[in-house]
Amino acid sequence: MESAASHAESSPPPLHVAIIMDGNGRWAKTHGLPRAAGHKRGAEAVRRTVECARDMGISYLTLYAFSSENWKRPASEVTDLMALLRLYLRNEIANLDRNGVRLRVIGDRSRLGRDIVALIEEGEVKTGNNRALTLTLALSYGGRQELVRAARALARDVAAGRLFPDDIDEAAVAQRLFTADMPDPDLVIRTSGEKRISNFLLWQSAYAELVFLDVPWPDFGRDELEAAVRDFHRRERRYGAAAAG
Ligand code: IPE
Ligand code: IPE
Ligand code: MG
Repeated sequence: MESAASHAESSPPPLHVAIIMDGNGRWAKTHGLPRAAGHKRGAEAVRRTVECARDMGISYLTLYAFSSENWKRPASEVTDLMALLRLYLRNEIANLDRNGVRLRVIGDRSRLGRDIVALIEEGEVKTGNNRALTLTLALSYGGRQELVRAARALARDVAAGRLFPDDIDEAAVAQRLFTADMPDPDLVIRTSGEKRISNFLLWQSAYAELVFLDVPWPDFGRDELEAAVRDFHRRERRYGAAAAG
């Protein structure tokens, strides 16, 4: 029989990896720098991670970049984060496109600046046919808000007579989420030590394997992604069924 280690080496990568990129502020504090410097290094880690995920053959990478609740941060920090986002979109879309990466954004766009929404729309169109990797950025995203939005869409369909209440099943809900055409995440990684989900992909992560790493996001790279995937391969996914063997 194959050993667990060799099995992990030869296993196909998880189809969908999602990451809660946490710890930019603490990284900055450790290095005696302003929080903005941590976010800047965090953006570099995004670049690295997208490249690694593509090299590893991961098909979907979803990154939690800004939560619905992050709007509560001081205005100066929100401004810094939006400036970085603008810079990332301006500088990276051509690069993503060259590398066969499709860009997508999930979350409440109505709260984002108009110029940012325009950059997102442009990027989604430009990279729409790429298939090496789908990179989804969760921006102004909250899992609860996403479910409320889906509930409203269902209610509208029922009120309009297009849908019977008894026809509402899991698929009907899933189809009304931002992630309608994406597989659920197999692996959710959170960096920087906190062991919580913070409103990320609540519905979609029902059976995701969770990996919590101590490393702050700006220090995340190939070694950390590979280690998390190895950890994932050691897990036995049961989906509620009895243990195998
Ligand atoms: C993650 O780092 C980036 C965002 C949430 C936008 P944090 O800014 O949360 O960093 P910590 O948690 O304060 O260290
Ligand atoms: C989660 O991190 C959101 C993102 C990584 C974008 P937070 O730092 O906002 O989460 P909490 O406040 O520690 O739960
Ligand atoms: Mg944080």
